[in-house]
Amino acid sequence: MLIIRVNKDNPETEKIKKAAEIIKKSGLVAFPTETVYGLGADALNARAVKRIFEVKGRPPDNPLIVHVSSVDDVYKIAKPNKIAKKLMEEFFPGPLTLVMEKKDIVPDITTANLKTIAVRMPDHKVALKLIELSETPIAAPSANKSGKPSPTRAEHVIEDFKDEIECVIDGGEVDIGLESTVVDTTTYPIEILRPGAITKEMLEEFFDVKVAGESDVAKSPGMKYRHYAPEAETIVIKDRKKILELAKKLSKNGKIVGIAAMNPKEFKDFITFDLGRNYEEFAKNLFKALRELDKKCNVIIVEGIEEKGIGLAIMNRLKKAGKLYDLSQSITDNKR
Ligand code: TXA
Ligand code: MG
Repeated sequence: MLIIRVNKDNPETEKIKKAAEIIKKSGLVAFPTETVYGLGADALNARAVKRIFEVKGRPPDNPLIVHVSSVDDVYKIAKPNKIAKKLMEEFFPGPLTLVMEKKDIVPDITTANLKTIAVRMPDHKVALKLIELSETPIAAPSANKSGKPSPTRAEHVIEDFKDEIECVIDGGEVDIGLESTVVDTTTYPIEILRPGAITKEMLEEFFDVKVAGESDVAKSPGMKYRHYAPEAETIVIKDRKKILELAKKLSKNGKIVGIAAMNPKEFKDFITFDLGRNYEEFAKNLFKALRELDKKCNVIIVEGIEEKGIGLAIMNRLKKAGKLYDLSQSITDNKR
């Protein structure tokens, strides 16, 4: 795999051109965005897109997000309605993906045969330059093997794919650390299919918003699959006292316990990962924490938080990565 290191704030055109050449020749290029690293291919080239599904091990009924470098380019692949236009005006470029009516130029494989297409303009100079120089929209799921935590640094992409893809552009650590908010603009109230850094509260300034239930899998095909999951058993607990109790009990039973929490100083007897001081830092550190602790532990306990603002997105990912601990249950009763 070709690894291209770039300056994320001022990416070198010559370097990005090399990666764009690979996209033009139907190859796969992983690249940084503000949310997570993406695994990109020419969205209009069915053969190239097919390889994304193959190397990722992604089920063919899970559609990809198509990335553009300008709002004008959205009109080549989609038919935005008034709502989508307004949301693009307010939030593009940014961590928001809009589901809109698709145009025929986009091959069916990219959208898993749906009549709709999910489009996003990333707020990241490297991603924008890559799309521009490739002269085509780029389809890109998160650049992890299906089921694994999304990559927040190039090292994670290399871990998952080694020589299975042609190139990764290394732009260092991402800013946000959770995938974009996915919003269906074809229904009203508009519907959040996947929560992210553009929050329900932010969208409500403009439109009525509904959050798709965990069981609404038909609407966001990707959400039905196991996701973000470490090999280690992963338990999410909203109460710090209970975290300590369970950790003690599990380690007595011979488990190697890792704890990911905000400011984890009271857990110093265990392997810990500091998730930071606020929810933004928590989001940015979460996937890295899961990957790192997974290398050292056989049980991972993650601190659960309030489902407000970006906390909704964090808890959405955590519930898929592991099991939410039932707080009404006492630790001694727990059969684990
Ligand atoms: O932040 C992100 O969104 C990252 C970066 C690389 O842009 N990409 C990403 O892609 O997270 P992926 O493939 O891991 O997740 C795409 C999500 C899936 O849940 C998929 O089901 C949903 O978007 N999706 C894609 N097209 C859709 C459509 N036409 N209708 C409904 N949901 C769609
Ligand atoms: Mg993903």
